[in-house]
Amino acid sequence: MQTNTHEPTDVTCIVLYPPVLIQEQRAYDAELMSKTLTLDETIDVQRPLHEVFAYVSEFSRIEEWDPAVARGIKQTPGAPGVDSEYQVDMKAGFSLQYRVIEFEENARMLMTVDSRFFTALEEIRFKASRKGTRVRYIAKFDFPAPLAAFNRAFPAAMERVGKSAMAGLKEALEDKFDVPRASRILATADRLILPGIWRFTKLGYRESRRRWEAISAFQGDRHALITGATSGLGKAAAHQLAALGARLTLVARDGNKAEELVAELQEQTGNQRIAYEIADLSVMSEVHALCDRLLAADEPVDMLINNAGALFNPRQQTPEGFEKSFALLLLSPCILTERLYPLLQKAESPRVVNVLSGGMYSQKIRVNDLQSQRGEYSGSVAYARAKRGLMIMTEEWAERWHKDGIVVNAMHPGWADTPGVETALPGFYRITKRLLRTPAEGADTAVWLAASTEAAQVSGKFWLDREQHPSHLSKRTQETRSERRKLLETLDELRESTLPKEPRRRRKTSAK
Ligand SMILES: NC(=O)c1ccc[n+]([C@@H]2O[C@H](COP(=O)([O-])OP(=O)(O)OC[C@H]3O[C@@H](n4cnc5c(N)ncnc54)[C@H](OP(=O)(O)O)[C@@H]3O)[C@@H](O)[C@H]2O)c1
Repeated sequence: MQTNTHEPTDVTCIVLYPPVLIQEQRAYDAELMSKTLTLDETIDVQRPLHEVFAYVSEFSRIEEWDPAVARGIKQTPGAPGVDSEYQVDMKAGFSLQYRVIEFEENARMLMTVDSRFFTALEEIRFKASRKGTRVRYIAKFDFPAPLAAFNRAFPAAMERVGKSAMAGLKEALEDKFDVPRASRILATADRLILPGIWRFTKLGYRESRRRWEAISAFQGDRHALITGATSGLGKAAAHQLAALGARLTLVARDGNKAEELVAELQEQTGNQRIAYEIADLSVMSEVHALCDRLLAADEPVDMLINNAGALFNPRQQTPEGFEKSFALLLLSPCILTERLYPLLQKAESPRVVNVLSGGMYSQKIRVNDLQSQRGEYSGSVAYARAKRGLMIMTEEWAERWHKDGIVVNAMHPGWADTPGVETALPGFYRITKRLLRTPAEGADTAVWLAASTEAAQVSGKFWLDREQHPSHLSKRTQETRSERRKLLETLDELRESTLPKEPRRRRKTSAK
């Protein structure tokens, strides 16, 4: 790294100077009334130019690499470019307002910075080098008179901040983060219920995120298929992956909602490569038809996020005669995932992410009553059993497809403030509303499992806030081998028996 800092002279030394120097010092003091500080830092990273540019130019991700930043917020819609604006909240308690004034793809971006303490002009230059990319950051800070008199302390601090930001950027771009391991402390807290359950709230999210690393893996050449993308967590995941540059296919059951969603995501993120597919995922003929269309299109699926879900009270039956929780939450993602195996196999770093629920902890799979026909029906129990079934499938697929490099994980979003929770659990929603996370916070782990480099190293596990959690809290919910085998056989049979004789072709594409 190279540094070039012009620091102010310590004004308290003036008394020691002879008269001629005092005059010079006064002239310098005048200049000091609006003191300029220049930082110039360079890093070299072993990543292609376009990947580095894509990561840095979406400046709201600055919080991932600059340790002084609490969060970056993109304030203008569209892809990064001239006139993009960002609010950057510093951990020190003040905010910076960034505006891009010059933007050359894969070459440079120039930004003005406004804040209570200084104004600045920051330029980031990018250049392909023999080993990857060279990134140079040049910033000229102007301090108004009162702050300029702070003598050395402020510029020295600024220099440290600049250096650590560039070191953080280098680390983020190197993307060599540790493989996340299971923690005994977390598992014990989960088993004690209360210490575990507070993590489902927004407080748990905030506590965990302090340990997170950057997601700088390039998504521009990856394709994500997301179910239940028109609301809540699925919509938030779609937004995050679109902003990361991935190509998206969103599965929705309502054409108007899908159209609106695609237009909204394109407008907000500038990512135009967003298409949608229509399917009611509780109806297996529609799930099969969706698979047929996707298989015919033959595009690799790098990320499959099985997210669509709902909680049904009272018991409902689909037109095909399946209990609805079982159909939507278990049979449908099983058919979709297994039939899309050839497309997953074609991807470079394929991931399947199953969105489950902490509710699963309370239930064991009931292989002889998968459709809740016996005893009194409870929507929450049927929901939890179906999620438990998908956890078993997560483990099964992870093992079965390990040789193909297909990584399969399940996650719990915590308790997030979504239309689904408000409608299905109004009492719970009223009591916990102030503790619920945002949909974006709930969706984060699904996006991380799908997109980050380190998440590709672990398969078949259950995650909350990017941390591994046990899939059972008690032996009581653990299925036997024969129960597992029976579940697999039943799902296999149903996948085959629901295959329509003549699949309809109904692929709708908004933009590619
Ligand atoms: N929010 C939480 O706190 C929480 C906690 C644990 C687990 N989860 C899980 O997270 C996932 C997302 O839930 P959410 O809270 O985001 O709920 P949400 O806001 O109700 O979103 C559910 C999504 O699933 C879609 N969907 C529902 N039934 C469908 C069907 N038959 N065919 C196709 N799509 C269907 C919905 O489409 P429409 O827009 O057309 O309704 C919507 O896009 C679910 O699997 C849920 O079990 C959520």
